Amino acid sequence: MQAFIVDLAGVHDAESLHDALAAQLPLPTHYGRNLDAFYDVLTEFGCGWRIVFRNAGPAADGLREVCRDAAEETEGLEIVFENEQRKDATMDNEVLKALRARRSVRAYRPEQIKEEELKAVLEAGTYAPTGMGWQDPWIVAVQDPEIIAQLVRMNAKAMGTTGNPYYGAPTIVLVFASPVEKVPFSVCDGSLVLGNMMLAAYSIGLGSCWIHREREMFETDEGKALMKKFGLPDGLVGIGSIALGYAAVPLAPAKPRKADYYRIV
Ligand SMILES: Cc1cc2nc3c(=O)[nH]c(=O)nc-3n(C[C@H](O)[C@H](O)[C@H](O)COP(=O)(O)O)c2cc1C
Repeated sequence: MQAFIVDLAGVHDAESLHDALAAQLPLPTHYGRNLDAFYDVLTEFGCGWRIVFRNAGPAADGLREVCRDAAEETEGLEIVFENEQRKDATMDNEVLKALRARRSVRAYRPEQIKEEELKAVLEAGTYAPTGMGWQDPWIVAVQDPEIIAQLVRMNAKAMGTTGNPYYGAPTIVLVFASPVEKVPFSVCDGSLVLGNMMLAAYSIGLGSCWIHREREMFETDEGKALMKKFGLPDGLVGIGSIALGYAAVPLAPAKPRKADYYRIV
C-alpha cells in the first residue's frame, strides 16, 4: 500500500485545491484539475493508495464527496479526512454497544459460517494493536472436520475430560505467537487478536468463545507436527483459540460488573 498525506492548509478555492492535490499526489500529467478528473484518477490508479487529508476546510467539501464515491467504487483505496474519522462518535455508539452485548457462546449450530464472515473475523484480528507494531501473532482458521476432531481430542486431553471443549463449533480459530522469551509482549498481542475476533464475530451475528489450553496442546509432539502441517514458522507457542459459529442458544445477559472494577485517580 502507498500512503500519502495531503495537507490542504491554505486551500480556499478550486484552484488552490487542485494545486495542492497536484503537488502532493502522483497525478498524471494530463490531470484535468477538476473534481471529475480527480475521481477518474482515484478510480483508475487508486487501488493500493491510502490518502490522509489534513486541514480540510469548507473549500474541500466537494473533494470529500468525490473521495467517498471513489473509495466506495475502488477496492484497495482508502481515504481519510483527519479529525473527521469519528464524526459519529457518541457515548452510545455501535462499538460500545457491541462491547457490552458480546457473550461467550457454548452451543453452536452445525452449519458452517460463510466465507465472508470468516474473513471479516480474521481481518479484524489482524487489526489488533501489537507491541512495536511487529504483528507477531499468527492466526489459523480450522474448518477441516478431521483436524477439528484432532483439536477436540488434544484440548480435551489437556483439560483432562472427554467432552468437546469447542462446544461443537464448526470453525476453530487458533492464535499462535512467539515465546515471551523472544517477544516479551507476544501473549498480550495474541490475546488482543483473540479479543478483536470475538468482538467482530458478535458484530456480524456470529457466536464465539475463547477456548484455552492452546499452549499445552501445541507443546506436545502432536501439536508441533500440526503446526508444521499448518505451515507455521518453527518455535511458536499456542496463545488461545476461539470457537466460532452460529449460536444455537440466545446470548445470556452479562453478569453485573464488580463494583470497584475501575477507579479514576
Ligand atoms: C483467557 C481466557 C480463557 C478462557 N477459556 C475458556 C475455556 O477454555 N472454555 C470456555 O468455555 N470459556 C473460556 N473463556 C471464556 C470465559 O469463561 C468468559 O469470557 C467469561 O465467563 C465471561 O463471559 P462472557 O465472555 O460471556 O462475558 C475464557 C476466557 C478467557 C479470557
